[in-house]
Amino acid sequence: MSRRSAAAPLVDGRTAVVTGAGSGIGRAVARRLAAHGCPVALADWNEEGLEETAASIDGPVLARKLDVRDRQAQMAFAAAVAEWAPAPLGMVFNNAGVTVLQSVADAAPEDDEWVTDVNFNGVVHGVRAFLPLLLRQDAGVVVNTSSVFGLIGFPHQTAYCASKFAVRGYTEALRQELRDTNVHAVVVHPGGVRTNIVANARFRSDFRNRTPDHATATREFASIARTTPERAAEIIHSGVRRGRSRILVGPDAVAFDLLVRVAPTRYYDVIDRLESLVRRS
Ligand SMILES: NC(=O)c1ccc[n+]([C@@H]2O[C@H](COP(=O)([O-])OP(=O)(O)OC[C@H]3O[C@@H](n4cnc5c(N)ncnc54)[C@H](O)[C@@H]3O)[C@@H](O)[C@H]2O)c1
Repeated sequence: MSRRSAAAPLVDGRTAVVTGAGSGIGRAVARRLAAHGCPVALADWNEEGLEETAASIDGPVLARKLDVRDRQAQMAFAAAVAEWAPAPLGMVFNNAGVTVLQSVADAAPEDDEWVTDVNFNGVVHGVRAFLPLLLRQDAGVVVNTSSVFGLIGFPHQTAYCASKFAVRGYTEALRQELRDTNVHAVVVHPGGVRTNIVANARFRSDFRNRTPDHATATREFASIARTTPERAAEIIHSGVRRGRSRILVGPDAVAFDLLVRVAPTRYYDVIDRLESLVRRS
């Protein structure tokens, strides 16, 4: 195989696969790529959301109800995409994700398993299903969604943080495996993006004794998350186009990335103080 070229990957006009396309960032990425001439193969376990996304897109769409935790279903989806794709496969976005708000002391183990299964195993199954197609054509990009919580540890988000650190480690290791190919592996670290992630979360315990219930947590997240899904999609699309290996989404992600380097064991002191200020204002 030829050594990976320094050139940015071909993205626009190529087929793109997006999981978690029924809402939020996945929906915005799907719409944006379709607007840039990409046939899009979309998956989500929420059929209604998936259909809404598909209906909003002009151009070729393949939509499949799929649970990313199901390895066989992901393999079958990859086979269907290979047969359907009107253009070479350009990008695979392993984006579907969930979270739970709970403390370790009170954690419901099944909720932790749900989060790690969707967020990490879902990514692994997606990579395994689609990587052979990309390697066969020796081109394309795997884009795995981590989080700022794949950069920092955050209380009441232990399973989520663990899954997102895992996505980061997996993707960075994969990137090294792909060094001698023209297939790229990209990890995305969004900061707060105004989506349904908290509304769709499981809520077990109040957030460091500050948030009494799920509805309040959802409202607070909507007021704190500054980046729109459309802006997130623009940043992700632009990063992939430019051949970036690591994409930080939003000013908060950039700030957290810097903070963790400057204060690797004390970053949360700063975050906690900033958060109190934001809440007061
Ligand atoms: N919104 C944020 O602030 C933020 C920050 C960092 C990382 N992220 C990550 O971005 C990704 C997209 O999340 P979002 O913010 O758009 O949330 P969202 O809840 O709006 O969208 C997530 C989508 O994933 C789908 N999904 C969940 N479990 C699935 C499963 N098992 N199989 C198939 N589909 C499934 C949901 O149905 C939903 O349509 C996630 O990986 C999330 O962890 C989000």
